[in-house]
Amino acid sequence: MQSPVCLLLFTIFCAAEAQSAKFQVIRQWKYVNFTWPDDESFKTAVAKGLYIPENNIIAGAKYFDDHFYVTLPRMRTGVPATLARIKAGPTQETSPKLQPFPSWQMNGIDDCNNLQSVQNVEIDTKGQIWIIDGGRIDTLMNSAAECSPKLLIFDIKSNRTNTVYVFPEDVAPKATSFLYDLVVDNTDGGYAYVTDNSAHDPGIIVFSVKENRAWKIRNAPSMAADPAAIHFTVNGIAISTPVNIAGIALGPKVHTSNDKLVINEAREVYFSPLSSLNLFSVNTTILRNENLTRQNFDYGSAIKNVGLKPSQSVGMVMDNQGILYYTLLANNAIGRWDSHTPFDTEQRLIARDNKYIEWPNSFAFDQNGNLTVVVNRLNRFIFDKLDLGVYNFRLISAEVGGKSYLYDDTFNYDSENGNKMVTTESTPPPSSSFRPSSSSEPVPSSSSEPVPSPEPEPSSGSNQQSSPTPSIDSNVTVSSACRFMVSLFSVTVSAILFLV
Ligand SMILES: *[C@@H]1O[C@H](CO)[C@@H](O)[C@H](O)[C@H]1NC(C)=O
Ligand SMILES: *[C@@H]1O[C@H](CO)[C@@H](O)[C@H](O)[C@H]1NC(C)=O
Ligand SMILES: *[C@@H]1O[C@H](CO)[C@@H](O)[C@H](O)[C@H]1NC(C)=O
Ligand SMILES: *[C@@H]1O[C@H](CO)[C@@H](O)[C@H](O)[C@H]1NC(C)=O
Ligand SMILES: *[C@@H]1O[C@H](CO)[C@@H](O)[C@H](O)[C@H]1NC(C)=O
Ligand SMILES: *[C@@H]1O[C@H](CO)[C@@H](O)[C@H](O)[C@H]1NC(C)=O
Repeated sequence: MQSPVCLLLFTIFCAAEAQSAKFQVIRQWKYVNFTWPDDESFKTAVAKGLYIPENNIIAGAKYFDDHFYVTLPRMRTGVPATLARIKAGPTQETSPKLQPFPSWQMNGIDDCNNLQSVQNVEIDTKGQIWIIDGGRIDTLMNSAAECSPKLLIFDIKSNRTNTVYVFPEDVAPKATSFLYDLVVDNTDGGYAYVTDNSAHDPGIIVFSVKENRAWKIRNAPSMAADPAAIHFTVNGIAISTPVNIAGIALGPKVHTSNDKLVINEAREVYFSPLSSLNLFSVNTTILRNENLTRQNFDYGSAIKNVGLKPSQSVGMVMDNQGILYYTLLANNAIGRWDSHTPFDTEQRLIARDNKYIEWPNSFAFDQNGNLTVVVNRLNRFIFDKLDLGVYNFRLISAEVGGKSYLYDDTFNYDSENGNKMVTTESTPPPSSSFRPSSSSEPVPSSSSEPVPSPEPEPSSGSNQQSSPTPSIDSNVTVSSACRFMVSLFSVTVSAILFLV
């Protein structure tokens, strides 16, 4: 059953009596290569510097119809495609070549209509891939912006673009915005909530399909880097750049209350700046109401501070039962929280590994209850060329039960009835849906390891310092990494946006 090649099983640690999620490496790459049309085009690309293997990094992944769609943001030159796909499922080929998606042509940087730099995508239940294209390329270098940021909604099955929306300058200026991540809300014709990681004007950009319009929600404390959480280390490498709002997750449309199903149009959106230990949330009624942006509305009054995580995070995702999964960068770990329980006491670490979870960046659910994590060692990539002799990118996967928040039809609720309560006699309570499909597998359960609390203990709401850091080999490592950081970013201040 188990493929002989490299399908390395590693159980991630937990308290002795506890059970944890069993993550497996399902794909791993020392560097990425592509399905070139022919050998000639490969040689030409190398000769012209259009393909420089050590400059390509996999950042995000989403699953649809037996494929993973992976993103390769153009942070340095020599990235021939910014969106590509690979076959999912068991394989002997654990370092597959990437097939540019939708086509080679659409990945060409010669035309602003093509994809320039894609950090993340989402794929809805109809098989439409929502692509946020930041427009600006070579973001770790000092390049000028040629193209404006845009959103494409592309139908995978018919191979056709349904929507192209170019963001206006007042929402996402091409010189400074950085579209980082998105969630898709199928309410009222469809919305995308996109994090703009901009160093100058961070916020959540809301796009309405029906209105073909976008607006931006701004809130300084919750969407900007927390000065107290800027510095942290990952396997001895110091990260010292303030990074604004990055990860975002959307709660399910359907939830249970007193054994009844509730269809909830005001879903909760969760987000966090990378440089922050706080998790925040806001309901979608607030985001969808463009009028508020013109009324000097105090978004701070509507944004909740959910609580403190043990570390800085980037990727996060919620399943359709309200379970949040989030990356814990300084811990080399994955956190899990059932949103029906208190955040402060009920967060759990379900996986932690210094080697295999070095910078977990993004999540993808498949249709079988598996959660896949993209791990990409970005902490190294931003400072230096990749070491092509070691594995730099991995997809690791575990059965956790549950599906993406997008699949809120699990209960087969009667959508005609709108907000009407529907009884759920025949449907299982939320907890049972977290059983993995194979009953012999251990479950990440409440017996998993409690997450370490942030250190030092936060006093009166302000966290003085960043998270617990992994042990550092020597002070030399830290200081030289720090110096490197300073020299790198003093050159590229305008391009910091997102180092990630
Ligand atoms: C990339 O793939 C091409 C053919 O598709 C092959 O000729 C080439 O050797 C590969 N390059 C690297 C660096 O692996
Ligand atoms: C999708 O269309 C493009 C041309 O627009 C073509 O190059 C590509 O091969 C098509 N993909 C599939 C899977 O048919
Ligand atoms: C926003 O304002 C317009 C015009 O003032 C109004 O027609 C519309 O109902 C308002 N929308 C919301 C969600 O309040
Ligand atoms: C959404 O949030 C606002 C502000 O906190 C609140 O007034 C409103 O009742 C919330 N709506 C729902 C449906 O939870
Ligand atoms: C994904 O789910 C399927 C079906 O439950 C299971 O057979 C498979 O082993 C899972 N894959 C991983 C990598 O967990
Ligand atoms: C690192 O620096 C701290 C404070 O400067 C010092 O107390 C500690 O002994 C140093 N550790 C090593 C391994 O040199």
